[in-house]
Amino acid sequence: MREWWREVLGRRPLWMNALFFFCAYMAIVYVPYDFLLKPAAVDEEVWLGLRLHGGWAKATEPLRFAIYGAGAYGFWRMRPWMWPWAAVYTAQIAFSMLVYNWVYTGGLGGFAAGLVSGGLFGALALALWRARDTFQRRERPRLRERYGEWALVTGASAGIGAEFARAFAREGLSVALVARRAERLEELAGELAKEHSVATRVLAADLSDPAECERVAEAVADLELGVLVNNAGAGYAGRFERQDGERLRRMVQLNCVAPVLLTSRLLPRMREQGRGAVIITGSVAGNQPIPMHGVYSATKAFDQLFGESLWGELHDSGVDVLVLQPGPTRTEFQDVAGEIPHDGEPPEKVVEVALEALGRQPSVISGWLNYLRANAAMRLPPRSIAALGARAWMERQTPPPMR
Ligand SMILES: NC(=O)c1ccc[n+]([C@@H]2O[C@H](COP(=O)([O-])OP(=O)(O)OC[C@H]3O[C@@H](n4cnc5c(N)ncnc54)[C@H](OP(=O)(O)O)[C@@H]3O)[C@@H](O)[C@H]2O)c1
Repeated sequence: MREWWREVLGRRPLWMNALFFFCAYMAIVYVPYDFLLKPAAVDEEVWLGLRLHGGWAKATEPLRFAIYGAGAYGFWRMRPWMWPWAAVYTAQIAFSMLVYNWVYTGGLGGFAAGLVSGGLFGALALALWRARDTFQRRERPRLRERYGEWALVTGASAGIGAEFARAFAREGLSVALVARRAERLEELAGELAKEHSVATRVLAADLSDPAECERVAEAVADLELGVLVNNAGAGYAGRFERQDGERLRRMVQLNCVAPVLLTSRLLPRMREQGRGAVIITGSVAGNQPIPMHGVYSATKAFDQLFGESLWGELHDSGVDVLVLQPGPTRTEFQDVAGEIPHDGEPPEKVVEVALEALGRQPSVISGWLNYLRANAAMRLPPRSIAALGARAWMERQTPPPMR
């Protein structure tokens, strides 16, 4: 736990840690109290030096909650967008202090109080303005130097897996490509070798068969494997009793058993080497019950808890673990799942989010809207509302004969 605190507090200078805790306090305690419990008659807020009372003051509370909530999150993750917004908002407080004390307190005392408080917040605004570099994304070391020579990507014949393979090759990693469609893998291997001069190995395998997982592990035993991406997966939309039970069983094997088997075979070498990375592609669907995608959401909940537990186990071992949780993404997934087509994020962006988060956190949700959905809409409401809300959503994405 002490290690965790050291790592978390070490992400920013001490004075910014104080601002992080202040924002969190305002978002979690002070503003909700003001909004929900304080009588409107005594509520008072100051914006740009103007004093607002009662209902007008109350009406600004949601905005203040959003500002402090975003501030706490921005400091926590040290997001680049915090610059310049943190400085601008703090400058607004400085200006308010100055004007408020002059106008509403008045006299020499008000003038002095305005100067002191406005000056303090002004200095803070200036410090935040000058801290631009602290908020900028640090260049991460190249994956090859960080983890080793080879990456193995399952589900590399399409979508997110193919983009992982391309991203690794761009960083000089050689790639072992796994999926059932050998011709697709050969094509991608050719592209990677031509464009990035990396070595490739094509392994056609059906990972819904445990024996095939074993065969894949054997086939890469001679490689210095630094990265394992358990990405192959599928889901099938439709009412449970209209689904083929055998196909669902194979999906559970593919989504859950294959990552367990491959990780158990390939992790020990990484531990011996004292470095490596295991990525598991989960889904935002793993955060809640999803009627008409029930078995799929259960498999993704499994992936998430498996991966996050491994992250805890391997913390400080040199082996990074990440669960990537995409929302809807433009791949072949919807087609395979038999869903009514709907838009999503480009897979390149999803992979970029994963590689940014790798080594920093146990799991990452791609896209802020997906982040909001996964947390506000899925975790906070009662389970009955989460399940029925998701059912209404899924009904729009499931063809009538399967509803
Ligand atoms: N797209 C989305 O909206 C979305 C959202 C959340 C999570 N995800 C997750 O993201 C991962 C990648 O999916 P995607 O979106 O990239 O879908 P995709 O385009 O359909 O790709 C799925 C990949 O998995 C492989 N695969 C499927 N069954 C396999 C099997 N039995 N054995 C070996 N490989 C198999 C496919 O290759 P072959 O067919 O050639 O075997 C393909 O390469 C999955 O785990 C999925 O659950 C996707």
